[in-house]
Amino acid sequence: MDVDKKDSIASDSSDQVVNPWEVSAKDGGKIDYDKLIDQFGCQRLDASLIDRVQRLTSRQPHVFLRRGVFFAHRDFNEVLDAYERGDKFYLYTGRGPSSEALHLGHLIPFMFTKYLQEAFKVPLVIQLTDDEKCMWKNLSVEESQRLARENAKDIIACGFDVTKTFIFSDFDYVGGAFYKNMVKVAKCVTLNKAMGIFGFSGEDHIGKLSFPPVQAFPSFPSSFPHLFPGKDKLRCLIPCAIDQDPYFRMTRDVAPRLGYSKPALIESSFFPALQAKNGKMSASDPNSAIYVTDTAKEIKNKINRYAFSGGQDSIEKHREIGANLEVDIPVKYLSFFLDDDTELEHIKKEYGEGRMLTGEVKKRLTEVLTEMVERHRMARAAVTDEMVDAFMAVRPLPSMFEYGTETGRSVLKGQSRHDSENDRFSTRKEAALGHETDAYTSTRCYNLRCPGFVQTSRTVLIEGAISPASTIGGLQTELTLQVWKDPARGPWWLGVGFSNGTKLSAIGYWPVEIFSRLTDHAENVQWGGEIVDIRASGRHTTTEMGSGYRPGSDRAAYVRDLQVALSPGEFVPVSRLVVGATNATYYGVEKYSNSSFSYGGPHGAAVHLSVTRGSN
Ligand code: TRP
Repeated sequence: MDVDKKDSIASDSSDQVVNPWEVSAKDGGKIDYDKLIDQFGCQRLDASLIDRVQRLTSRQPHVFLRRGVFFAHRDFNEVLDAYERGDKFYLYTGRGPSSEALHLGHLIPFMFTKYLQEAFKVPLVIQLTDDEKCMWKNLSVEESQRLARENAKDIIACGFDVTKTFIFSDFDYVGGAFYKNMVKVAKCVTLNKAMGIFGFSGEDHIGKLSFPPVQAFPSFPSSFPHLFPGKDKLRCLIPCAIDQDPYFRMTRDVAPRLGYSKPALIESSFFPALQAKNGKMSASDPNSAIYVTDTAKEIKNKINRYAFSGGQDSIEKHREIGANLEVDIPVKYLSFFLDDDTELEHIKKEYGEGRMLTGEVKKRLTEVLTEMVERHRMARAAVTDEMVDAFMAVRPLPSMFEYGTETGRSVLKGQSRHDSENDRFSTRKEAALGHETDAYTSTRCYNLRCPGFVQTSRTVLIEGAISPASTIGGLQTELTLQVWKDPARGPWWLGVGFSNGTKLSAIGYWPVEIFSRLTDHAENVQWGGEIVDIRASGRHTTTEMGSGYRPGSDRAAYVRDLQVALSPGEFVPVSRLVVGATNATYYGVEKYSNSSFSYGGPHGAAVHLSVTRGSN
């Protein structure tokens, strides 16, 4: 049954207007979300659905689900039905890059999408609608493209997994398969319909009319031939704020006619302005919003000065009747960002009954937001242009339905062991294999994201997780790694063996064509480990090197039995081993002999060492 309402919002004379360009309620009042669900014809996200998410993902649902920030949906239950049967889906969300600095409200869909990606282990596409903002905000093409890349950094800083995430800018990516879908969508929507859904009038330029199909097309898997070839039935789930609903109402309306599944939606309410005046935090009034670039002092001042309080005017009155929690912004903000359910309940009770004062609640909010913004700032600072390029490269994502986070590099025979411990947030940490294409000279491209390494094994995957990994005081895993040259045909092979008894087997090779040197043999062999911490935000800011323990600890990771291959199967000892760490304050390397060393520490950067055979 099609529950979508068709042409309703702009033509709706009712007291609230919610569309991608305008959010307003009657007389500056509050948005009535129940009414909006009715108006739009979407479904309420109820407790039973949230329970189901908990069951299917085996983890506590995100705060934004528990506290009703994401409150409405379309067909989310169908996506879960399919997931339960073993059918995966992909996520699609986006951002219109209209401003340099993001405020907290902008982060909400991305924080939530990150959770969905992790919890369901699914791929994600993120659309940066630089074209949309160029047309609506009167930005130049160049400026909106620049903003798109800047915003991409903030998005990446939320902690997305580069092996499962494709970020694209419309100006760069629209064309080919994408454009074909756009035209198909465009042909299904009449001018009358567009005017009804989006409120366009005769005065709007025709660029605006042509945009909605662009936001529609990422909902169809065939728009990403490098990601989902032959997977036209893959379902799409879109987390977004409810003001984006008109775009997807249109998309869902045309989908069956084009032979596609309707995208499912999970929709959030708006993050209110500090003054709580109307629906939504606005980027244009700096005092209404807390930006991810604000300093601790600015955050404190804004909260103290502008956050609308539900507390009473005098202490006596406050003690007597307590705060009005319904209108209180500090409590509202805490309900978005304070994880701890018990603490939140405590604050609400004490404040609501007058035992806690506004100042105390504001102080707690200041702490929570300062910490969050600080974490974001650090994560954002760690996002390089190369990382943006990596996320935005048009490339297949071979492990997009799996898990695995670290990469390393190896060009030698030897055995190594990584310890791994569940950290206190119980994210899973695993060793993973990887390779780096061109000795960091130009592409800085890892694993299979650039041409170079050819994967041949179907069981051991580059960038795939290796499990089980060692645990402290428990199982110890050693890997045997070997790199050798096939003398007849020329490629360099990489082989891996596991200490659980599996024999060393080839997992892939570096083809002859990519070498200008090393065509015959190697004179110097380097073996290194590197942390590529793309999940730099939030709880993943300090990925350890090795096991996280420094050399000297019996828990430290090590490499032993290094040998150099003269010909396949013929090994000689290493005559000279030089070890080094790029940042000794973060971690160390210690040489034990010419064939073994230990390395690691609480923060990773890169460990490099170099071994040479012969007398020099
Ligand atoms: N139009 C959105 C904005 O202005 C950006 C966007 C594009 C988006 N695709 C999306 C948002 C999908 C949510 C989901 O911010």
